[in-house]
Amino acid sequence: MNQPISGFSKKSKAEKIEWLAENYLQNNPNSIEILKNYWNENLSLQQLHDDFIENTLSNYYLPFAVAPNFLINGKLYALPMVTEESSVVAAASNAAKFWLERDGFKAEVISTEKNGQIHFNFFGSEKDIEAFFEAVKPKLRDSIQTIEKNMKARGGGLLELSLVDRSHILDGYFFIHATFETLDAMGANFINSCLEQMAHTFEEEAHNFEAFQKKEIFPEIVMSILSNYVPECLVRAEVSCKVEDLTSKNYDGKQFAEKFVRAIEIAKTETRRAVTHNKGIMNGIDAVVLATGNDFRAVEAGVHAYAARNSYYGSLTHAKIEDGVFTFWIEIPLAIGTVGGLTSLHPLTKLAFEILQKPNARELMKIIAVAGLAQNFAAIRSLVTTGIQKGHMKMHLMNILNQLDASEEEKEKAVEYFKTNVVSHSAVVSFLEKLRN
Ligand code: MEV
Repeated sequence: MNQPISGFSKKSKAEKIEWLAENYLQNNPNSIEILKNYWNENLSLQQLHDDFIENTLSNYYLPFAVAPNFLINGKLYALPMVTEESSVVAAASNAAKFWLERDGFKAEVISTEKNGQIHFNFFGSEKDIEAFFEAVKPKLRDSIQTIEKNMKARGGGLLELSLVDRSHILDGYFFIHATFETLDAMGANFINSCLEQMAHTFEEEAHNFEAFQKKEIFPEIVMSILSNYVPECLVRAEVSCKVEDLTSKNYDGKQFAEKFVRAIEIAKTETRRAVTHNKGIMNGIDAVVLATGNDFRAVEAGVHAYAARNSYYGSLTHAKIEDGVFTFWIEIPLAIGTVGGLTSLHPLTKLAFEILQKPNARELMKIIAVAGLAQNFAAIRSLVTTGIQKGHMKMHLMNILNQLDASEEEKEKAVEYFKTNVVSHSAVVSFLEKLRN
């Protein structure tokens, strides 16, 4: 029976591995070897990665790729993408090429406001809390002067403070809603520091407020935290062309456009389809968010909440045909940064920014929205024409071959064979069996 351990984080990396091997890996030398195989020879680079989180034992690689030919607002980009899913980069590249020949993507930032809340309990009179809030508001602002100094000098900082009464939904529940402009920073640390300081001031000042003193009823802070739901930090990206320009050797443009729009309508109507549809969009978005060292969980949470903003979960993309013109667009909330956090720490994220020609946060919002739109275009195009598996399994072939320990020669032969044959796990197994016999 394994025993709990205390003081684990204080142990050295070697001691942690030894403990893990003894307690959970039956001292298997191969398991230890796997961990060590992924160490970087460059000791300072390894140290940098070790320090990102606690209890680091090794590095977990994901492929870092680029999808070229993205024409966005007339500028050509190669998008850095980090993902494990075999068909994502190929699909992005295909969609980029397709729209490169049709005037590219247009993208615009609609708004850039972020927000956070100070959640508190108050079981007194509404009038008292409103009066107190109005009185304390300037003091809350003053209390974050030091935290805000640099951000303000660059044109950002706290925007508005408002009191929200939710006591009709949850007894005694109120919050202060704070809005911020954080410019090129994602701003999580900045916002949380401001909120925690203001919460402290709020509680302190409440004890000096006469109406509360008289009744001996004071507000009590529960917690202060930014919100990852940022519907006021919105970006839009679109593509459009005449329906006949969608014609290819495999399908007629008008028929394709109609089926495409229908597929989007289905994703707007049916949650089960919408979730998969939006997952495909996030294949593109997360890959760029990860490559640029941004917080993909924050983006995911915010985007999915936005997809459900009308009380049902629907498609994040939209499509229409009007006067013979096909238009396809996405509108999503994106709180990302180009400074701070991992963006200036991880050598590969720094490189990703160089590949993107050092965009600011607004530009990066547009690029990421385009990555989502392109990914969705590629998915829907496959779904309404050939089906998804043809392209997907073609890309997955190499994974199956690697799983089956195929040699380079076998891989070459398999790639050639499966150009004209349907890929499946069993088909690859029997192909290799025949080859090996
Ligand atoms: C697979 O990762 C993503 C898709 O399922 C997206 C979609 O169905 O739209 C292909």
